[in-house]
Amino acid sequence: MKFKKIVLNNFFDGEIIKEFSGNSGKVYLVKNNVTSPAYIAYKTCKYLCEESKDLFDEEVLKWNSINSRYIVPIYYIHNIIGEYYACMRACDGTLADLMSQKEVCETSAYIYALQIIKGLMDMNASSIEHHQDFNPQNILFEDMSRLFRGFPPKEIHPSHRYRMMISDFAMSNYYVKNNIDGRAGGKFPFKAPEQYKDSQLSDFEPDRFALGVLLCMLFTGKHPCGFKQNQVFKKNPKKLKTSWKTWAHSGSKTVNFHNNEVSNLISSLLSTEPEERPNYNECFGVIRKQFEIFNPNEYSTAMFHIDYFDKQYSAYPRDKLRTRVN
Ligand SMILES: Nc1ncnc2c1ncn2[C@@H]1O[C@H](COP(=O)(O)OP(=O)(O)OP(=O)(O)O)[C@@H](O)[C@H]1O
Ligand SMILES: [Mg+2]
Repeated sequence: MKFKKIVLNNFFDGEIIKEFSGNSGKVYLVKNNVTSPAYIAYKTCKYLCEESKDLFDEEVLKWNSINSRYIVPIYYIHNIIGEYYACMRACDGTLADLMSQKEVCETSAYIYALQIIKGLMDMNASSIEHHQDFNPQNILFEDMSRLFRGFPPKEIHPSHRYRMMISDFAMSNYYVKNNIDGRAGGKFPFKAPEQYKDSQLSDFEPDRFALGVLLCMLFTGKHPCGFKQNQVFKKNPKKLKTSWKTWAHSGSKTVNFHNNEVSNLISSLLSTEPEERPNYNECFGVIRKQFEIFNPNEYSTAMFHIDYFDKQYSAYPRDKLRTRVN
């Protein structure tokens, strides 16, 4: 990005209130001056060259092909004198923030897990086979209590306020494009064995492995290698005695949770062999059933939200909608 913050403020007609920097992208959180919504986010490439522009175009097109309430929505692409900014929904934080602030209770873990798995199912129903960088820092949330006064009502669990959305499709489908170099991606604590360069594994299901790590952290409060949440969310995660690569292939994976069905699901997602990991329909089925047994009232509220928005989307497919401006 070549423009200074003060210049961007004018183009955005707002004020940049926060900046985030990932590996390849730069995200600005903007408070709008005169328009609604009050906040908006813009993602652009961190380093500008001809190739990064093509990759950015690709990311936006892949991302926008997904029809789901559980994926961060992109509104449009803002072209500022040849530099492109994807304008998207402003979120209130990441799942990593929620997980490291305080212990996630069991009901909250089920509420978040169902939304996240639904997001993966919707992602697979589009052109995206693999996200390839699936981890809590790339799952954003919107706090709906900031949008709707009195929500959630006190009769339902406070965690229903969070809408989880998967983001960051920079690495997605790289494997589909190139099944050798394209195995790459993933933060070390979430990286599947087959994502390492010289892996002998022939199948490829890295998002399922990463989902196993994420569910383990949500339900047990610990990474399956035994580390605490904060130790793996740091920019440079704590080092293992061996290496993350050895851990992914053959390290012990501890899932210390009282519910056997959920523990077994997580353990099979963490299997070294990609083909042994269950698909998202199976994952959704197990989580939903165990949630219903554990807390039937909160289960029905969570499923009401998921079903309601699913019907909204399927009844009016986005590609068939034509927005009228007058
Ligand atoms: N819509 C948004 N609203 C608020 N914050 C956001 C939004 N999008 C991204 N962020 C913040 O910016 C960070 C970086 O964004 P993103 O993951 O898209 O960039 P990246 O460069 O591809 O990251 P990575 O390091 O994973 O490669 C996110 O982890 C999140 O904290
Ligand atoms: Mg990211």
